[in-house]
Amino acid sequence: MLTLGVLTLNSCNKDKVPVDCTAAGCTDTISFANQILPMIQNNCVGCHQPGNASGGYSLSTYSEISANADAILNSLYGTSVALMPQGGPALADTLIQQFSCWKCQGKLDN
Ligand code: HEC
Repeated sequence: MLTLGVLTLNSCNKDKVPVDCTAAGCTDTISFANQILPMIQNNCVGCHQPGNASGGYSLSTYSEISANADAILNSLYGTSVALMPQGGPALADTLIQQFSCWKCQGKLDN
């Protein structure tokens, strides 16, 4: 376990929010289509889409979500940026963990 944790951490050590797939308990592969996209659509897209890109962020497609994964994750924790969804409350821990896992699993378009 310890060895795995160190290996995983190495690939993520530039993130502001530490994302260690092993420590975060990422046992299942997260699906972009079934988990990540619905989460963003349900909680974010109302304020983050073309024509209403709050803060300059449109988050309606895989490429937009993938390119902004660091900023999104920071915003879900409210780490060094405004907490999102704007005005709170923060999303459920399980949803934030799913996003963390999707990111450290390589942001699959699956
Ligand atoms: C009610 C509207 C609203 C919702 C819902 C919302 N946002 Fe935002 N978001 C904003 C506004 C307005 C800004 C720009 C002002 C600010 O930073 O507070 C912003 C800024 C951001 C930023 C940039 C933060 C920064 O300071 O650089 C990110 C990233 C972001 N939102 C992600 C998200 C994510 C992810 C969700 C869903 C979990 C979400 N937002 C939901 C309105 C919203």
